[in-house]
Amino acid sequence: MSGKSNLKRIGVMTGGGDCPGLNAVIRAVTKTAINVYNVEVYGIYDGFLGLIQDHVKPLTFDDVSNILDRGGTILGSSNKSNPEKFVVGKDESGKPVYENVTDTCLANIDKYELDAIVCIGGDGTMSGAHNFVERGVRIVGVPKTIDNDLMHTEITFGFDTAVATATQAMDRIRTTASSHHRVMLVEMMGRNAGWLTLHSATAAGADIILIPEIPFEINKITEYCTKRHEKGRAYTIVAVAEGAKPVGGDVVVDRIVHESPDPIRLGGVSEVVSEQLSTITGLESRATVLGHTQRGGTPTAFDRVIATQFGHHALELLMSGEDGVMVAMQHGRVTHTPIAEVADKQRTVPEDNPLIAAAQATGASFGV
Ligand code: F6P
Repeated sequence: MSGKSNLKRIGVMTGGGDCPGLNAVIRAVTKTAINVYNVEVYGIYDGFLGLIQDHVKPLTFDDVSNILDRGGTILGSSNKSNPEKFVVGKDESGKPVYENVTDTCLANIDKYELDAIVCIGGDGTMSGAHNFVERGVRIVGVPKTIDNDLMHTEITFGFDTAVATATQAMDRIRTTASSHHRVMLVEMMGRNAGWLTLHSATAAGADIILIPEIPFEINKITEYCTKRHEKGRAYTIVAVAEGAKPVGGDVVVDRIVHESPDPIRLGGVSEVVSEQLSTITGLESRATVLGHTQRGGTPTAFDRVIATQFGHHALELLMSGEDGVMVAMQHGRVTHTPIAEVADKQRTVPEDNPLIAAAQATGASFGV
């Protein structure tokens, strides 16, 4: 915290994978700055890329009007523009060549006379932001991600909408599963955290829930499906987190994005489990990967509300002289936590999370 609060101009950026509610935060930050504090706001486009490639423009009141309910981000985003490890080309063998372009970013922060920056993002963006905090840039972070895996905050905006989308998808899968008497696997995002799968599977009443934090045994899953079949249950819904893995086994990797701060992209585990399941049980099964549908669409009312609170609070923090912190929700109250304690960390589902017990008590299996 610098103690300085006489801000004249701030920047705002959205980094990492997008999610519903980003525009609601941009709106809250910009309107609070203009309406309440007479502070100018500049948009930094495509996350840190805007600072690397000098893509920074003023944001007016009109620019942020009528965007509260719009998905995506009017500023664009990037999850492969880490200034400390920016890909500038390839060597003779085709391997990426990295450069630290932090100084270029600092020069652009000076060029646009940005007194502070509101960085809206997940753990990768907070890690990038921490680099600038250490170089003396005044930053307040705002926690976004459908994965809900940021440390020291009970909730990130975007999560509630993604849960609603995934729940609705499973509700739809249920009707076709029932018609065809199939085992239907539905794969959800979330990286190495099972929050999105646990919450949406509980909301949809999925029969089997596979999350990264509880490695599964394929035999337990097949036994459960066979038993349901023998009992005359017409179908089985299996909710699978993209980071789910068998006991003693590993995650299924879809691709490696070298330019990304978090290069491993997961995906495909539902197809693998589906194949094993139908081979062992003889039951017909299908896998559906929800993919980026979970990141799209209009934010729920809940996400709009917390996005507005978070954006407003970010400005309040900066104006009170606070920086180097991320807005957070703790014990149901909007507060803040040091960015250093969030950067590059992940909050996974603890074994004793009460939702696990509730799902088990109402009949769901975690494949163990
Ligand atoms: O972190 C958000 C997220 O949607 C993860 O759930 C998912 O694993 C990843 O981003 C996908 O990234 P990309 O958009 O690069 O495919």
